[in-house]
Amino acid sequence: MNDIVLGIETSCDDTAVALVDSNGNILSSVVASQLEVHAEFGGIYPEFAARAHVTAILPSIHEAMKKAGIRPQDIRAIGVTRGPGLIGSLLVGINTASGLGAAWNKPVIGVNHLRGHLRSVDLEKQRVGYPAIVLLVSGGHTFLASMKSTTDIEILGSTADDSVGETYDKVGRMLGLGYPGGPVVDRMARNGNASIPFPRPVINKGLDFSFSGLKSAVSRYLETNREAIPEDVAASFVRAVMEVLMKKSQLALREYPSRSFVIVGGVAASPQLREEAARLCEQQNVELCLPPLRWSTDNAAMIAMATFDYLNLSIYKPPVAELQLSMNDF
Ligand code: KG4
Ligand code: ZN
Repeated sequence: MNDIVLGIETSCDDTAVALVDSNGNILSSVVASQLEVHAEFGGIYPEFAARAHVTAILPSIHEAMKKAGIRPQDIRAIGVTRGPGLIGSLLVGINTASGLGAAWNKPVIGVNHLRGHLRSVDLEKQRVGYPAIVLLVSGGHTFLASMKSTTDIEILGSTADDSVGETYDKVGRMLGLGYPGGPVVDRMARNGNASIPFPRPVINKGLDFSFSGLKSAVSRYLETNREAIPEDVAASFVRAVMEVLMKKSQLALREYPSRSFVIVGGVAASPQLREEAARLCEQQNVELCLPPLRWSTDNAAMIAMATFDYLNLSIYKPPVAELQLSMNDF
């Protein structure tokens, strides 16, 4: 029993630990959520995030090992997020992983958080047929990539400014909804009319994205229309986001004929996005591959899963926090 990786993810606001085997089976997963810590700030307060990680990390690791009935000698390696993320938060995971690696005499590998998201879709069972087009939509990033295999990744286009998740969160704040904005904006949008003609930024300009103009347009609309119906604003905003995402994804699928269309990252939890993507896939005759909802948002199972890629390729990425992690340094 040695093909098990301990994954640790502390890049943002949740302390997550998981034990995963090389087939993507999850032996245990523990998440210490910080939602309550940050709720009053309407966003993430980095110093409090780091402090909450310090408190939660060792008990979470202990709990994950106990739940799975795994001892330190049973694991093959420790995988820990090395970036991108909040530096104080990353350091808690990295230092803990390094200390345990030295004590247990196990290799410790620094994992690109984005590779984790890309691989989250094969957790629990292999879903993706390659080549695939992957749309990553998280709180920190938005890009389209072509994946010829689990490890052959090419970024095709990315956002010049805000990510989709960030835009949802900001619009949520403008509408007076709590953090994170994604799920609440989606819910509100269900009861509105998409009647407001918000812009679809750079919709006809290749595979790159831009969302700050849309965010500003929503803000301006709310400032100048005091009687605005929040449900209609939410519905019109979601419609604009979906049109942009689907148009670019369709273009990528046409340019890079693929077997699968994969959506990962927190926004992959959006029911509207899932419905639109299902329609697009039927039309393009490709298979839609989505991670189970609990593995769409940040988690440690995806970090453990990605660790196997490095182990299989004998690539050693040290567990060092990377401030300037290149988009292509998977
Ligand atoms: O991937 P993730 O957990 O964290 C990052 O790596 O950034 O993504 C978090 C983002 C947040 O911006 C949140 O608002 C968004 O995912 N999100 C959603 C939904 N659930 C979470 N956005 C739209 N619809 C949802 N249902
Ligand atoms: Zn993430």
